[in-house]
Amino acid sequence: MSLTTAHAAALTSMVGGIHARSAEDLRHLDPGVEPRNLGADLWLRPATTTEVSEIVAYCHRHRIGVVPHGGRTGLSGGAISHAGEVVISLERFTDCMVDPVSRTAVVGAGVRLSTLAEQAAAAGLSAGVDLGARDSATLGGMVSTNAGGISAFRHGTLRERVLGLEAVLPDGRVLSELGQVVKRNEGLGIERLLVGAEGTLGIITRVSLSLVPLDGPVATALVALPDLESAVRLVTTALGSTHATPAALEFMSGNHTRAVCRDLRYTELEDLARAPFQLLVEMTAASPTTAESSLMALLESGASEGWITDASVAQNEEQRQRFWRVREDWAVDRERPGGLWYDISVPLSRLVAYVHAVAARLAAHDPSLAIYLLGHLADGNLHLTVNADHPITERYEEIAGIVTAGLTELGGSYSAEHGIGHEKKATLERWIHPTKRQLMRDIKALIDPHGIFNRGKVIPD
Ligand code: LAC
Ligand code: ZN
Repeated sequence: MSLTTAHAAALTSMVGGIHARSAEDLRHLDPGVEPRNLGADLWLRPATTTEVSEIVAYCHRHRIGVVPHGGRTGLSGGAISHAGEVVISLERFTDCMVDPVSRTAVVGAGVRLSTLAEQAAAAGLSAGVDLGARDSATLGGMVSTNAGGISAFRHGTLRERVLGLEAVLPDGRVLSELGQVVKRNEGLGIERLLVGAEGTLGIITRVSLSLVPLDGPVATALVALPDLESAVRLVTTALGSTHATPAALEFMSGNHTRAVCRDLRYTELEDLARAPFQLLVEMTAASPTTAESSLMALLESGASEGWITDASVAQNEEQRQRFWRVREDWAVDRERPGGLWYDISVPLSRLVAYVHAVAARLAAHDPSLAIYLLGHLADGNLHLTVNADHPITERYEEIAGIVTAGLTELGGSYSAEHGIGHEKKATLERWIHPTKRQLMRDIKALIDPHGIFNRGKVIPD
């Protein structure tokens, strides 16, 4: 059912016409990763927490569905909106205050990760989180989805970075828990429930984050590996380095690397790409020479012991960027559109067995399926792309069952860093423990009694 003209007019007046768009105007806005993000009848861009609170209180009274939007880079459909619903975009929440002494930042939900990174770097600090969508993803969305990324193996996911937050609850009340200290035990950590709730319990308007020291110079290599065991060996050896710290340990299967090198015509990497697996290794230290010598020591021990078959060390920033492009590019999706993406994690000690088991199960199920792997290997997070010569989009659930089976028993997760959103709701329903399922439903009913926030997502039916 669509939003009435009276509701649209009342809500628009709360932010002013230039900060509102009707369904018609929304066609000119970039929907981001998911084309269905902009299906709502009204899109509002409030400037203050009070405005968000007024809008939400009105929606609560009139049972109007609300979908919060950050940078629209989510990969699980958490920002999809429908007719009759209102999108609240946090893009005007751009205040960003770095405190170099306390090593904290208090930032508006609409601050982009790259903006925070720049401001923190000016104070010799880092957000402690990095991911491919750094130029679009916003801190509000990243906290809402408990984003992970490249450095989670060192600094945790967003949950570990958050010190506090301010949010508007589904009835319009404001929860203000913006503490900027690590130690803060003040009864139940209610605000923690909103981290990873993907906008089902509240709209995060501002967050307080703990920052980490900025990394020193890095030395980067793209490494060819004969098998998965060798990839794990490289990761554990790098983590044990004494003079330098690994800043990135990004994993790729050879078919991914070959697809990217073909597509981008990176001919100089063709030999490396022929190996079954590749790892992008980045070591950081106080000086460039220490970073380089640690990287070289790692490569030499791998080569002499046979777990590295080839490696290319970046000689300059341009070459380093090419290595990163090999990891972050999605040539596979361009070459064979209509594939399926899964995002899982497994304890590193069980990762090899898991991958072999999944490959065997998929081959037995349908030998025409191809598997591509990417991953943040040091924390056991793998992105599996499953595709075929034709689109297989409608087979998501069937293949999800095969990919995610047994992960809970292994101590892993059927939903690692991209969240549940709309896409993984059935997977969550399949594997969730009954006690947790009931508690999730009870908490949702308590905080959002009319079920207006991010309907049909995350919370089991
Ligand atoms: C990546 C994002 C998509 O690792 O999670 O490429
Ligand atoms: Zn990732």
